[in-house]
Order: sequence, then C-alpha cells, then structure tokens
Amino acid sequence: MKQNIQTLLQPAPLFFHSSMNLFPITPIFSLIILCSIFAVVQGQQPYIGIATTACQQTGNSNSMRGYTCNGVNPSCQAYVTFRAQSLYNSVPSISALLGSDPSQLSEANSVSKDATFETNKLVLVPVNCSCSGNQYYQVNTSYVVQGGDTYFFIANNTFEGLSTCQALQDQNGIPEGELMPGTKLNVPLRCACPSKNQTEQGVKYLLSYLVALGDFVWLIGERFGVNTETILEANTLSSQQPTINPYTTLLVPLQHEPSSNQTSEPSPPPPPPPSSTSGSSSKTWVYAVVGVVGGIALILILFAIFFRTRIKQYLKGNKKKDDSVVVSEGFVAVAIEKPQGKKLEEVSQSLEEIISGISKFFKVYGFKELQSATNDFSPSCCIKGSVYRGVINGDLAAIKMIDGDVSKEIELLTKVNHSNVIRLSGVSFNEGYWYLVYEYAANGSLSDWINIDGKFLNWTQRMQIALDVATGLDYLHSFTSPPHVHKDLKSGNILLDSDFRAKIANFGLARSMEREGEGEQYVMTRHIVGTRGYMAPEYLENGLVSTKLDVYAFGVLMMEMLTGKDVANIYAGGNVNLLDVLSEVLDEEGEDERLREFIDPSLQGNYPVELALFVARMIATCIHQDPTSRPYMHEIVSSMSKALDSSLSWEMSVENTF
Ligand SMILES: *[C@@H]1O[C@H](CO)[C@@H](O)[C@H](O)[C@H]1NC(C)=O
Ligand SMILES: *[C@@H]1O[C@H](CO)[C@@H](O)[C@H](O)[C@H]1NC(C)=O
Repeated sequence: MKQNIQTLLQPAPLFFHSSMNLFPITPIFSLIILCSIFAVVQGQQPYIGIATTACQQTGNSNSMRGYTCNGVNPSCQAYVTFRAQSLYNSVPSISALLGSDPSQLSEANSVSKDATFETNKLVLVPVNCSCSGNQYYQVNTSYVVQGGDTYFFIANNTFEGLSTCQALQDQNGIPEGELMPGTKLNVPLRCACPSKNQTEQGVKYLLSYLVALGDFVWLIGERFGVNTETILEANTLSSQQPTINPYTTLLVPLQHEPSSNQTSEPSPPPPPPPSSTSGSSSKTWVYAVVGVVGGIALILILFAIFFRTRIKQYLKGNKKKDDSVVVSEGFVAVAIEKPQGKKLEEVSQSLEEIISGISKFFKVYGFKELQSATNDFSPSCCIKGSVYRGVINGDLAAIKMIDGDVSKEIELLTKVNHSNVIRLSGVSFNEGYWYLVYEYAANGSLSDWINIDGKFLNWTQRMQIALDVATGLDYLHSFTSPPHVHKDLKSGNILLDSDFRAKIANFGLARSMEREGEGEQYVMTRHIVGTRGYMAPEYLENGLVSTKLDVYAFGVLMMEMLTGKDVANIYAGGNVNLLDVLSEVLDEEGEDERLREFIDPSLQGNYPVELALFVARMIATCIHQDPTSRPYMHEIVSSMSKALDSSLSWEMSVENTF
C-alpha cells in the first residue's frame, strides 16, 4: 500500500515534517530528496514484498502471480539470480533447475561448464523470458515434487523466491493438499521485459535479483551500477520506505549485460562523504546516508536497534554458555545437554528478518507511549512478573517486558490470526529490553482459576475453555505454515477474556516443524526446555519434538481442569504416573465413588457423570506414553465440541428441573 505512486507524489513538506522529527536533515540532502521525489515516476512492475507468504491470497495486485506483460516485446533475453545451495551448486544443476542454457550460464559467470559454486554464491542465470497467455512474463521450468514439499517450500526454499506459491498453485491447478511426490510441476520463474519507458531510457535487460538478508536498494544499485531511483521506479517502490524482503525478486534495469564481477560479495558501504558541517562525527555520516536514501531511515534505525540487541545477545550467549537450564515460572526444567552455540551470523539473520517484517505487521510504539500507558511501569499496573496493564488509546493492553530473544514469538505471531491465540498488537524496544503489547485478557490466566479460593469455573465453562485451547492448538499444528509446536502449554499460558473464552499465549518456546511431512514428524533437540509436569516423556528423555508434545500437555491441562488440582506440580516428582492415576479411576468405571473423588470437589457434583467419564478417557489417550498413540489435535477438537454440546444440553436440562 505504501509502495504506490501516490506516496511518491505526496507533497514534499509532509515528508520533511515526518522525517524531521527523527533527523536533522541538512539543506543539501533535502535538495537531493526533493529531486528524487520529483523525478519522473512511471510505475513499471509492483514489488511483491511479503505477499510471498500469503499463499491463499488471490489477485495480482503486487505481482505475486508474476510480472505483467506490459513491455514492448512479448519475449526477451532476461536474467535471474540464484544463490548456490547444497543441491543446486553447479552449472549443470542450476541450469537444469532454472531452465537455462548451461553454456550461456557458464559464460555469464566466467566459469567452466562443469564448475561448482560456493554455497550462497550469487549466480547470474540468463533466461528466455516470454509472455504466457498474455498475462505474465515468465520462464517455464519444471520440478518434480519431493516428499514433504508444499507450494511455499518449492517457491521459497527450492527456487529461493524466483517463483511464488500463488503462481505455482495457479498454473498447476493442483490443490495444496494433493501435491504428491513424483508429480511434475510447471514452475513459472519471475522475469520481465523492459517497458516502453525503460527502453527509451536505454534499458536492455531486466534482471530479477533475489534480495538477500541485509540488502538495501542502494546497495543493490551499487552492485549493478544502477542508480537507486531507477530501481525504485522499476519496482514501483516508494523512496520513503523501500523495505525489501529476503527471498523476493527485485527488478534491476540494466543497460548492459550483467557481468560476473558484479556477483562478488558486496564491498563495504562507501566511505563517509565529506560533511559540510563542522565537527563531522560518525553520526553526521549516518545522517548523510539517511538523507541520500530518504526513507531507508526507519530501516537504519531498526537496524541499529537490532544490532545492539544482537551484540547484547551475543555477549550474553558467551557469558551464559554453560547455563542451558531454563527455568519456567518457578518450575524446574532440565537440560540434558547444553545447546550448540549459536553463531553471531545466525542470530543477526533472524533479527534482520524481523526488521523487514515487524513494522508491516505490528505497530512500533515509542517507549514513552508505553511509559505513559502504564504509569511509568508502576507496581500498581503490574499484572504478574514482568507483565503490565496499560491503557493505550483508551483500550486496555497487556505489556510484557522481555530481556532476550523475541524473534520467535514475533515471527510466529505475524503468521497467526486466530481468536484462540493471543493477539500481538505492537512492539517497542528500549535500553536492551523488548516490550510486546498484547490484547488484554480481563480474567487473567487459567491457572488463576484452578484451585484458588473464591474463584470458580463451572463445568460448561471448563468444557468451553478446553475446546478453545484445542482449537487454537489445532490451528498452530495444522494451519500455520510451517506448522508450529507451542512446547510450553500450561494453565499459566492460557488467558481468559471477559467472557471466559481462552487464548493461548506465550510463544517464547514455540518451534516450527520446518517441513510438512506425511504422518507424524519428529525433530530432535538437545535443548530441553519447558515446564516440569507438562513435558511429554519422549521429549524429556530423548528430546523428541512433535505436535504430540502439545497433545500431552493438553491432557495434563485438562486433568487440572477436571480435578481442580495443580496436577503438573503434584505429579512432577515423577513417582506417580499420571496415566496410572487416571486408569485407576477409569478401571472402576461405573463406580461413581472413584470418579467423584477424582473430579474437582468444588463442582459439588454439578457435572454430567457420563460426560466426565468421556472426557477422562480422552485425557487418558492424550497422556499416553507413546506419542503415536496420542490423538491428533483435530480429533480432540471434534471430541471436545461434542463434549461442549452435551454440556450445554445438560445445563439446559438441569436448569429446567429447577
Ligand atoms: C509456459 O507455461 C504456460 C502454462 O503454464 C503456457 O501457457 C505457456 O505457453 C508456456 N510458455 C512457454 C514459452 O512455453
Ligand atoms: C525461505 O527460504 C529460506 C532459504 O532456504 C529459508 O531460510 C527461510 O526460512 C524460508 N522462509 C520461510 C518463511 O520459511
């Protein structure tokens, strides 16, 4: 939205006004910005941005299905770039994958015909680009589906963003769920031919450049000797906020064939230009760059922020090397072995990924706003631990202060939009701490309602909460891409809104399962974190992670709701097997006495006995020792919705008898 021509043509004063709050811009640089704003702007092909991940989206507004055929010629010589990766790292393998001529490819990169490239080496790939069906410019290539592939994985990971899930799905017509290993797909690669305007300006080729982490438009321009405005224009990007994302294509208009010396690693940023002001400090230099590239400002600031966290984390990571035991809210968790030290680059990568995404998804709050929202984080606003209640624009919000890596949580919550998952509305960063702003849950956490004097949930409320939690988990397991495991499900992480509807919170330990496989998928970890009493045996003993971890924890959570006892804590000692306890109750089926002892006394017998047994049996399957014997979350959702229906009927019948 921000990337259309309208924004570019916005009156200059408005732009200055908003930037001046941030930086002192010297007149010279103001002039440069002015020029760039009034440069002839002619939209060419809209930049795709983060639309690459919205696989269900329709239309082609941001060219996610391909660049439109708006050029002078219906076909042309074009270039795409590719970064060598383990399976595709040689002239033959890359040209086969991308439908390029091997001899042209070797020539373009000045290497031999059987050369191998180093991993991540930028490779120039000459292609014949043509207009298909009068709609999109593309290079057709084919790909045979492998086990576990999804359209997104093929487009993003295998083709590195040269194709999109939307284009793949569109042109192959096979629904996502029916992708079978062995199926041959037609893969349209994103390319384009110069428009009339570009041709008049001497542009001969368009290169589909794959944006990498840490890329800026001006850096890419320097690499290919093209000025920033020309690139922005070709991609209808606004100079105010030219955010570009990794694994997307950016069109670079070229007057000459690209050459192999442009694919070497970028040289460090240009030396600081001589400053017109006296006392030129490194700060002045930063301002200067900001002036020249206009809207990159915000990115630079974020970058600086992240860079600081990165260093902080890195130092911290070094200090705490041997301390891999993570204790979760008072419970003891065990670590079998210390995690493998994360490299600095890895940390910075995930952080940079957030940079590009963060401001698009969430509001970035100024720290002052949060201070005033929470009375300067006064104890009276403290909900629990480092979570504060605040009023922002008249609405209540929960503000969590975090000292550490929030990338996983933020990354996951960008992909999630579900009423049973807590909504993150904004983010702030101050002095090494992150502040995450969430929707407010008026009734606090579920743990505040279990075994707490004076607080009581009736049977039907409990069933509703269980169904909500199951629905939220099912969403994480089956409908996010890639699937996620929460890994720290417990009553303290379930929040209740004013209607006692449940929302899953605290995704600090969540992990993605990378690829969707057939059947169950396990990942091994050596870093065991979580909350004692909720952790499944295969995870505690062997570090096996799968969605079945959450199913186990859900069973424990249900047991807490059924018994009104702090089950996880009581049985965490390890001498008592939860399933044995439950089996005893179930074995004596029909003997109401046992069940009555088991079920929360505060319910005072106000529950449908048959249904309680049904739920108890379901819990028993959830906490089965063998993960493969546990049900899937979608099965639990269907059981629980039956349980809720029956509970509602039961409630009506009870009310009618009085
Ligand atoms: C590429 O494939 C599409 C079908 O997906 C087809 O319509 C088009 O003609 C093909 N283009 C070329 C140049 O073969
Ligand atoms: C896209 O592919 C890259 C390269 O393999 C990978 O690092 C990245 O995580 C992928 N993006 C998503 C959202 O999965």
